[in-house]
Amino acid sequence: MTVPTDVDKVSILGKESIHCGFHLIPYIVDTVVKTLPSSTYVLITDTNVAGFHLPAFESEFDQAISKLPAQGRPRFLSLVIPPGETSKSREGKANIEDFLLLHRCTRDTVILALGGGVIGDLVGFVAATFMRGVRFVQIPTTLLAMVDSSVGGKTAIDTPLGKNLIGAFWQPEYIFIDAAFLETLPAREFSNGMAEVVKTAAIWNEDEFIALESRSAALFSAIQTPSANFAGRTKSTRSAAQELLLSVIVGSISVKAHIVTVDERETGLRNLVNFGHTIGHAIEAVLTPSMLHGECVSIGMILEAEVARSMGILGQVGVGRLNRCLKAYNLPVSLNDPRITSLPASKLLTVDRLLDIMRVDKKNSGAQKKIVILSRIGKTYEEKATNVSDEIIAKTLADAVRVVPGTPSKNPVRMATPGSKSISNRVLLLAALGTGTCRLKNLLHSDDTQVMMSALMDLKGASFAWEDGGETLVVKGGGGSLSVPPPGKEIYLGNAGTAARFLTTVCTLVQQASGDATTESAKTTVITGNARMKQRPIGPLVTALRANGSSIDYLENEGCLPLSIAPNGFKGGRVQLAASVSSQYVSSILLCAPYAREEVTLELTGGQVISQPYIDMTIAMMKSFGIEVVREKDADGKLLDVYRIPKGTYKNPEAYSIESDASSATYPLAVAAITGTTCTIENIGSESLQGDARFAKEVLERMGCKVVQTATETTVTGPPKGQLKAPGYIDMEPMTDAFLTASVLAAVAAGPGSVEGNVTRIEGIANQRVKECNRIKAMIDQLAKFGVETKELDDGLEIYGKHISELKQGASVHCYDDHRVAMAFSVLATVVGGTVLEEKRCVEKTWPNWWDDLENKIGIKVEGVELASTVESSASPSGTLEKDPKASVVILGMRGSGKTFIGELAASTLGWPFVDADVYFTEKHQTGVREYVHQNGWPSFRTAETEILKELLSTYPSGHVISLGGGIVETPEARDVLKQYAKKGPVVHIVREVDEVVKYLGEETSRPAYGEPVTDVFRRREPWFLECSNYEFVNYTGVLTSPNGHADTAGGVANGEDYLAGKPLSSVRDEVARFFGHITGQKPNLASNLAKDTRSYFLSLTYPDVTPSLPHIEELTTGVDAVELRVDLLRSPKDIGGFTTYVPPAAYVAEQLAALRRKTTLPIVFTVRTASQGGSFPDGDEKAAFELFNLAVRTGIEYIDVEISWSEKRIKDLSARKGHSQIIASWHDWSGKMKWNSAEVKEKYDTAARLGDIVKIVGKANSLEDNFTLYEFVSKMRAAADSKPFIAINMGVEGQMSRILNSSFSPVTHPLLPSRAAPGQLSFVQIQTALHLIGQLPARRFFIFGNPIAHSMSPTLHNSGFEALGLPYKYEIFETSEVGEEIRAAIASPDFGGASVTIPFKLDIIPLLDALSPEAEAIGAVNTIIPQTKNGSHMLYGDNTDWIGIRESILSRLPSSIKKPEAALIIGAGGTSRAAIYALQNLGVARIYLFNRTRSSAQALVDAFPNAHIELVDELGKWPDDGPAPSVIISTVPASATSVESSSEGLYLPSAIFAPEGGVVIDMAYKPAMTPLLTLAASTPSGKKWNAVKGVEVLLEQGYRQFELWTGRRCPRKVVAQKVWEKYNA
Ligand SMILES: NC(=O)c1ccc[n+]([C@@H]2O[C@H](COP(=O)([O-])OP(=O)(O)OC[C@H]3O[C@@H](n4cnc5c(N)ncnc54)[C@H](O)[C@@H]3O)[C@@H](O)[C@H]2O)c1
Repeated sequence: MTVPTDVDKVSILGKESIHCGFHLIPYIVDTVVKTLPSSTYVLITDTNVAGFHLPAFESEFDQAISKLPAQGRPRFLSLVIPPGETSKSREGKANIEDFLLLHRCTRDTVILALGGGVIGDLVGFVAATFMRGVRFVQIPTTLLAMVDSSVGGKTAIDTPLGKNLIGAFWQPEYIFIDAAFLETLPAREFSNGMAEVVKTAAIWNEDEFIALESRSAALFSAIQTPSANFAGRTKSTRSAAQELLLSVIVGSISVKAHIVTVDERETGLRNLVNFGHTIGHAIEAVLTPSMLHGECVSIGMILEAEVARSMGILGQVGVGRLNRCLKAYNLPVSLNDPRITSLPASKLLTVDRLLDIMRVDKKNSGAQKKIVILSRIGKTYEEKATNVSDEIIAKTLADAVRVVPGTPSKNPVRMATPGSKSISNRVLLLAALGTGTCRLKNLLHSDDTQVMMSALMDLKGASFAWEDGGETLVVKGGGGSLSVPPPGKEIYLGNAGTAARFLTTVCTLVQQASGDATTESAKTTVITGNARMKQRPIGPLVTALRANGSSIDYLENEGCLPLSIAPNGFKGGRVQLAASVSSQYVSSILLCAPYAREEVTLELTGGQVISQPYIDMTIAMMKSFGIEVVREKDADGKLLDVYRIPKGTYKNPEAYSIESDASSATYPLAVAAITGTTCTIENIGSESLQGDARFAKEVLERMGCKVVQTATETTVTGPPKGQLKAPGYIDMEPMTDAFLTASVLAAVAAGPGSVEGNVTRIEGIANQRVKECNRIKAMIDQLAKFGVETKELDDGLEIYGKHISELKQGASVHCYDDHRVAMAFSVLATVVGGTVLEEKRCVEKTWPNWWDDLENKIGIKVEGVELASTVESSASPSGTLEKDPKASVVILGMRGSGKTFIGELAASTLGWPFVDADVYFTEKHQTGVREYVHQNGWPSFRTAETEILKELLSTYPSGHVISLGGGIVETPEARDVLKQYAKKGPVVHIVREVDEVVKYLGEETSRPAYGEPVTDVFRRREPWFLECSNYEFVNYTGVLTSPNGHADTAGGVANGEDYLAGKPLSSVRDEVARFFGHITGQKPNLASNLAKDTRSYFLSLTYPDVTPSLPHIEELTTGVDAVELRVDLLRSPKDIGGFTTYVPPAAYVAEQLAALRRKTTLPIVFTVRTASQGGSFPDGDEKAAFELFNLAVRTGIEYIDVEISWSEKRIKDLSARKGHSQIIASWHDWSGKMKWNSAEVKEKYDTAARLGDIVKIVGKANSLEDNFTLYEFVSKMRAAADSKPFIAINMGVEGQMSRILNSSFSPVTHPLLPSRAAPGQLSFVQIQTALHLIGQLPARRFFIFGNPIAHSMSPTLHNSGFEALGLPYKYEIFETSEVGEEIRAAIASPDFGGASVTIPFKLDIIPLLDALSPEAEAIGAVNTIIPQTKNGSHMLYGDNTDWIGIRESILSRLPSSIKKPEAALIIGAGGTSRAAIYALQNLGVARIYLFNRTRSSAQALVDAFPNAHIELVDELGKWPDDGPAPSVIISTVPASATSVESSSEGLYLPSAIFAPEGGVVIDMAYKPAMTPLLTLAASTPSGKKWNAVKGVEVLLEQGYRQFELWTGRRCPRKVVAQKVWEKYNA
């Protein structure tokens, strides 16, 4: 007994073989077993589908078979194969065939293909050839397969050379369409299928198309609501949504079946189903597998519709409807869709590439491409595909256009522009509420009108039909009769704001339908919208309606949609409304008021009424529909904001022609004006309701045009070309949007009769700064490209017109994604040759077919242009070409920001001279700045200052640090000079908090006072500093406090106490050295392990605020080479918590960076990870992301992680400006689907390698094996000669192995971090341990050679370092009496890791070594041995780190008041003195005083360092006559040999050696801790200004360096120092 089932049958090729319904499994099995008798039924499906539906088939087949006679009972077999296109291959086919052969299937086998198109195509092809063809049944489970691939008999498999290249036509016995399968289908797959459904309706059946246009929400809900208890199997159990879904599917299939029946082998008509496919396939070829077939076809349909439009065959109405309909099904409609631009492959979508792919399309006839051309919705131009030239396709595909100048060939032009949006919205509602039929012409098709129409249909308020191929909308008004939609039906308004506002009042007019009154859910009308709509305000309107008695509830958030509105709710009478927010609220009430129960008096409250012209427009239009509103006046006749609206019903006029949009009309009129021709715009005349309608009379006429305006038409005739007059001043307040059009005309307005020479001064347009872009600035910048000069005014701009022939040709206009900029400049382009408009699609906002109309209706030719990426030719990712590598550094900033301080410090670390512009000024003018201003005034000073700037830049173009006065940016000329300079050299803005500056300036007098508050000056200059500089250095005076509680101020004097015992905190000096070394490229702060290709790591900081972690930064960064700041995870204090995606404010990021920089000089990796790639930065906000990247470049960030999903143009542009920083081009795939051996990954790799200096690809491992595939891929890529560092890891616990094996910049975490940046992340120590265990990090032995060394601190120092880093190393004391066999054996051992050498072997060891460092050579002693492998052979390398210990100690303790020590004193002339001399020489200390009791050994030292300026001194405290007192003192004699008593035996140390200016005193002796020298410093008044360095500290410093030479890792200084001090003090 079969289960009762209702099916709709569709006939194909003369047979009713397509059966459609819901829950068909029993029906399918029954039908197959009964009508296709066989010995074997084989069901083939994929794992996804099997999981949902195979068991039901199995049990149904079992039952059905068991009922058959036992004799000859058929078998039921099933085969489940992997899902996805890769199965559709020769191998996939062979597998199935083997299965069938193995199971001894014979010719009578019936194969059932259960699945999507992949299964259908593959299984169908197997059936076509197995045993020369067996019967098969299609059971499609995706929408695409249901409506497309299963119908028609095409079967095929793919080959590596292309899709569907091998196949056959093989018709199935049955096609069972069970729409219930769609309930398990992912939504994206459903949309994918909808593309084909929309396509079929678009070529064949407009009624179907209308249903699709308005029913998207219902269709989605049909598949998203599970049908319990097999609901839908019979008609009586089917819901309305199910009916709709089935009718859409059956409708679509019927068309395809019909076409296939007429033309099975695709010779003509069947071509039509390829609408959208010619271009769509080409797109798919590039984007597969990331984009689905239907998604590519969706874009293909739009582009092909645009081809039809540009051929003048299809109107914009058709293109617009198609566009909105596809969008309603979540399909992409443009190549600029973020789903596409985020794919690396999207970069390959060039016009040439696409045309190339289309060249091999099966449909082509020879070289001619064929495209299905729509003539309107539901109809094609020919009953087959049409030949289309490459030129037209290229034009459609191109992003940019070039306008070919000339005289409009359609002169005199007569045209209408797109309908006004405001009028379209109003008239639609008026006609729907009216009685009778009204034909609307020139309606603007927009989301608003679309949504309004479907809402009115849902409310049964009116009916709509299209005439003239969609050019006319026929509205049959319902006279105000509206009903509550059926239960559960919400009215969805998307983001259509006007519709939402108008409909809110409309819904109060709805009448309670008597039948439904009892059902709970049908009591109210619910209107809702998308997420954005749910944030837009509606409160004032709801408040007004509620106060009038309407019952309206907010269903989610107060003041916003969704709303639940009770019927019969508009009482009327006196209504009060706050009208200062939106005039749409007023119009909403006005439009509905005649239908209220009582006559309405509307009173507007809240002061200033906004946009009165729109209220007047509503009233005027109501009058055309028979209702006259009366605006009340007071006793003096002054108009009040009170309106009386009589009760009544609108009477529809037979036809209503919607006025053209007046702003749009300015463009064709301006074309006539500029080319000296005539243009008439229908539908706009003197009676127009729109302000911009005045443009012709008030602007064009004054510029010399002849203007004839009737009530309803405007005709403009331009003067002969080149003779437009400059009108002088024009007030454009009433027509602000038209100022752009006026500006381009003004550019060529210098003709005879001009008013003020060639000046056009446009005012009243300040609001235009906050439109789609800052339009005033946009016009100024883009006009400059034509060589047109302008001047910005507070309220507008001045344009200085030129003769057309003087304008520069070939300008490429950037349109800022602003439709008005694009259209305005296309007017200018009609007379200036070679003008390119860069973003042609921005006109879509108001005039999508502008370019076609320009060509077809005006007669100006337009060509497609593909923009070469603008920076391609000028920039290479590896940096700054042709720049002077030593270009001088220019320093800018507010007075008091620390320019001189930072500048001098920078000069000293770079070893470059410092030039102070103020000093230079004083010298040149023989008078101080203050004096000069006093005598000559500010303007004269500014001029002189600019001259000096130019002079300085030409005198010191390289190798200098030049600091400029704070006011230098006040004049445009100086700003220009600086901006020019910034193109070739660093211009650094010193940033300091304004409060600090104010504090400082309070004390400063050498410069003239500002005469205005400093904060005002600050605010004014800040943008200029930003504009003129390419870097910024933060002179950080923020929240950080050092351990002793002193604020760690930039200008302050470091006083020794600020430091922990051990390594000092990163000081201003360190940061200055890092920053300036990096940005000048003199010492780029890059990770050397990364460059050397040895293992490198970075720590990921995942804090919302990094400052609390800073005290632990040393510990956290143990072992790593860099720190990653996850910028996307930062949260400014006011924003902590509650965000899914977030854009951290740039100022906050800058603060965080500055704070971090004060505590570590490690390179920073700056990462802005997007949500789709595992971070929390919004994917769509490219602009904000690149603003942050800019900040990174400006602040001298070393590594910037840029996802390759961002637009290539922007990445290249960033690359061109990155200086010495590097770009990590990254890609992350969290899905777990990315295969390391796929073409997709290779493609990503290639893109990243092209765009970045470092490649990063991150996938997710599902198994250990995935890490080996990764490793293989990495090895292959790294084998290439010029390969770039490659970070390749798999996320997830399964991926940990890849983190261990990855060698470049492995991201690591630390146990102290709050959370891991990514699942599976390991710590540095964990990775070292793992590496050791897998044999990648062998154990090593280290020694100290010397005698006596039993008490050496070195084992503690190094072993605690090894331990902290997790290294399997050991450091041992090796005491011998001589450098002999024992030492030889130790250093020859294979596990020898390195050694320290100390007294007395520093010289004796040298003969055993293969090479010495230049430093060891110069000092003549070795204290460090490093084993090295070079070109396969082992060698021993000798180095000396003693001098580094001394140098670092000096640098870290030198008071910041001393930029560079001029003189230094060394006491003693032993071996250590040699290292001291070398260190001082390295620091550039000009004079070295040497004191030694034995003069001869002192003289030996002088001879050993012929290049050093060493002077012997005979008495401590007495310096050479011309010599400065030393600011560095280094004692190298044993402490026991010194004394502070003149009478004593030892060397007498007088307190006079300490100059009162302060300095650093170092005692190399390390027992006792406080030597006589250091004690003396601490006890005398001048000595107290000296910072003391103990011997142990120097030992530590040199040990750190040793450690780094051996391990290639930074020494964990804090831990090590702590351990060493503990031992020392013990
Ligand atoms: N023969 C033709 O005329 C024709 C026409 C168009 C497309 N095609 C071919 O069709 C193929 C694409 O077909 P497709 O889009 O159906 O892709 P598909 O077969 O790969 O299915 C898409 C995904 O959905 C899963 N799936 C299928 N049904 C499901 C269900 N009911 N519930 C949950 N998951 C389900 C699948 O396992 C798969 O992962 C391509 O190979 C294309 O070349 C053929």
